[in-house]
Amino acid sequence: MSQEVLLKVKDLRTEFFTSKKSSVTAVANISFDIYKGEILGLVGESGCGKSVTSLSIMQLLKDTPGKITNGEVILDGVNLVTATDNEIRNIRGGKMSMIFQEPMSSLNPAMRIDKQMIEGICLHTDMTKEQAREHAAEMLKKVGIPDPQRVLKNYPHQLSGGMSQRVMIAMAMSNDPQLLIADEPTTALDVTIQAQILDLMKKIQ
Ligand SMILES: Nc1ncnc2c1ncn2[C@@H]1O[C@H](COP(=O)(O)OP(=O)(O)OP(=O)(O)O)[C@@H](O)[C@H]1O
Ligand SMILES: [Mg+2]
Repeated sequence: MSQEVLLKVKDLRTEFFTSKKSSVTAVANISFDIYKGEILGLVGESGCGKSVTSLSIMQLLKDTPGKITNGEVILDGVNLVTATDNEIRNIRGGKMSMIFQEPMSSLNPAMRIDKQMIEGICLHTDMTKEQAREHAAEMLKKVGIPDPQRVLKNYPHQLSGGMSQRVMIAMAMSNDPQLLIADEPTTALDVTIQAQILDLMKKIQ
């Protein structure tokens, strides 16, 4: 582990606005640092704000009634709370990515897996489409998908729950993120695969 701070979360507060005047505080002024190469576990009872903390870091609250009302999220020197949408788009999926609790929420149902993965890879690297396709297949193999070529041609609805979870994990890891947020990433998988996925994360770390 290095001495360099990768992520600094400072006094982060996220509220959900139920009306103009009333709000529910889901994250109440939380602060923590993550150093390069460090693994940090966030634990707490159901509903305590773990997922909302993750979404707040990723700046993914736009489609919800939630809003960051205080604090900073500094990734590698850049405050994500005040960054422009364009800056966030460059960082999200590249330098930082997230594995969601619910796989279907991050796969586009109308797009084949190959297209989704290749787009994500090409956006953040200088790989050609062909190279990106090869890289995508490699990532699928790494997360325990035995026949990547078939899965690449599928739409999300053609995959089982465990398969889509693995595809999502492969996608989140495919650009070698510096910050990988995993929100209960393996709950839907059997224990053998859980161990493999955690192993893979350790390797990438
Ligand atoms: N879209 C939303 N609108 C209103 N309130 C929300 C919304 N999303 C989350 N909340 C509230 O924010 C709080 C924190 O929820 P969060 O999903 O972060 O919990 P969690 O710690 O991840 O729980 P779990 O372990 O069950 O996944 C909860 O009280 C929840 O009701
Ligand atoms: Mg949660």
